[in-house]
Amino acid sequence: MGNNLGEEKKLAAEFAVDDLIKKGLIFSGMKIGLGTGSTAMPAVRRLAERIKDGTLSQIKAVATSFQTTIECEALGIPVFSMNSKEINGNLDLAIDGADEISPDKHLIKGGGAALLLEKIIAYNSKTFVIVADSSKAVDSLGIKFPLPMEIIPEARVSIIRRLEELGAKPVLREGVRKAGPVITDNGNLILDCLWQADKNGKTPFSPAEMEGRINGITGVVENGFFTCNIPIVYIAENQNKVQIR
Ligand code: A5P
Repeated sequence: MGNNLGEEKKLAAEFAVDDLIKKGLIFSGMKIGLGTGSTAMPAVRRLAERIKDGTLSQIKAVATSFQTTIECEALGIPVFSMNSKEINGNLDLAIDGADEISPDKHLIKGGGAALLLEKIIAYNSKTFVIVADSSKAVDSLGIKFPLPMEIIPEARVSIIRRLEELGAKPVLREGVRKAGPVITDNGNLILDCLWQADKNGKTPFSPAEMEGRINGITGVVENGFFTCNIPIVYIAENQNKVQIR
């Protein structure tokens, strides 16, 4: 990651948290979902700062991954399960990063292998917010950044066959500093799936339709197309400016 992109991530994340507080979308006593990755982390840290300086109190957080849980524990942000009495299966707002954002604000997520909890949290939040650096805006999804999906290990080969029938090139994600594949926070595997662009350079299908179709394959737990809860997007244009979409 270039330094500039790192600065853009921090800028977008911090700007978003402050703006959402100003707009009353982040407020004391709320139930908030916290995302995973290098853009979500500065948002989590900004939230902790606003709790520490007394702007916010009684925040109830749900984390999308071990990464986020560990960060919240270190920062003193109370973390609950989605099923707890305090959260009761729904959230006021979720804030997270994305790998690709299309012009109609459909997303690819899951670059950090946390897409399952990210989607459970995003789809059960009244307001969904994405924070991103400028590299994340694309014309078409799934033809540059491969679509991640979480799968049950025993179904790997059968799922790969079905995805190939859908025109995809699936690759099993390998671990870093671990022999063998990435194991998700839920004990499953990740396939990364790339499609070839059509003759106009676009995605050769509707991501909204494909999101449901892939989940219909037996053994697929969830895929990284996010098309059902359209987010507010805070995207850095450069190191000094954030655009709200
Ligand atoms: C985690 O699984 C992802 O969905 C992340 O939100 C996404 O990969 C964006 O990550 P960065 O903010 O690190 O680019």
